[in-house]
Amino acid sequence: MVKSGMQENKDDFKHYTVMLHEATEGLNAKGSNKIFIDATLGGGGHSKMIAQSLGEGGRLISFDVDDDAIKKASEVLKDFKNVTIIKDSYTTIPEHLKEMGIEKITGGIIFDLGASYHQLTKAERGFSFMKDAPLDMRFNKQGSLTAYDVVNTYKEGDLIRIFSEYGEERFSKRIAKAIINSRPINTTLQLADLIKKCTPKTNSKIHCATRVFQAIRIEVNNELLNFENTLNRVVKLLDSGAIISIVTFHSLEDRIAKNILKDYTKSEKCNKFKPQQNSEKGILRLLNKKPICASDEEIKENPPSRSAKLRLAQKI
Ligand SMILES: C[S@@+](CC[C@H](N)C(=O)[O-])C[C@H]1O[C@@H](n2cnc3c(N)ncnc32)[C@H](O)[C@@H]1O
Repeated sequence: MVKSGMQENKDDFKHYTVMLHEATEGLNAKGSNKIFIDATLGGGGHSKMIAQSLGEGGRLISFDVDDDAIKKASEVLKDFKNVTIIKDSYTTIPEHLKEMGIEKITGGIIFDLGASYHQLTKAERGFSFMKDAPLDMRFNKQGSLTAYDVVNTYKEGDLIRIFSEYGEERFSKRIAKAIINSRPINTTLQLADLIKKCTPKTNSKIHCATRVFQAIRIEVNNELLNFENTLNRVVKLLDSGAIISIVTFHSLEDRIAKNILKDYTKSEKCNKFKPQQNSEKGILRLLNKKPICASDEEIKENPPSRSAKLRLAQKI
């Protein structure tokens, strides 16, 4: 039984699984013989908990695009015969299920969005403004767009838009201008120093480069659009009674989760401009109206979990 959310530390892959119990127990996998999906396998924390809970006929199919995550999770899950690991984007879940002859997700699906601790802190992955490395930030090391490309080839207006929308950065304009005037920028620390120089000093505990780094990461991995499109597609693949469990880490992801889930719960308000969409209304039931947050105990053990929000919904 996994007690703590922290992955064992025999190798150099570290990740603290956030809301391990809340997010997996919400799926009702205990003793279940149904099909479950983990869209964001990571170090396999949630997957292991689900695999342990399943009944003999239950099955778990887990996705990740990151080679390091696949390697770690394959080790963590090696003794479970009921788990299939797929190295591909969760955006391809419908296609993979079709290929496997699976028509419906009968049990449920979990999304634990964002980056793993491993990705954020391993210097050579190029996500961290604390450790010098080439600007990279790809979840999928085979992906074509890197943080270097965004920083060194995007137009000023696009940088401003990304920093404002994805990072909610107040000083987007002056940071974008400074980037344009300092190209090429090769490494994480070069970028972090530049941001430090062109933004005013504040008393905030948050590093001045946090928002811009988050924005670039979201752009490189197309995080928001991938999640929005996939959520819309998988809701239709859920069988009656199947549950969707979503853990988010920032307001942009949570807003998408909240709005899409809410939209599928509405039955009375028909959209007269898009009548073809009305048959899709009222197909979900929210299991929690307000998002569930990490317990005080978990926040003490893993402070970043204070930003996590869990939303659960069930197909009617
Ligand atoms: C917060 S971690 C998940 C941690 C995991 N729940 C655990 O318990 O160890 C998020 C993971 O989602 C993966 N990811 C991000 N975008 C993805 C996508 N489009 N398809 C599949 N995996 C993705 C990342 O590579 C990362 O490993």
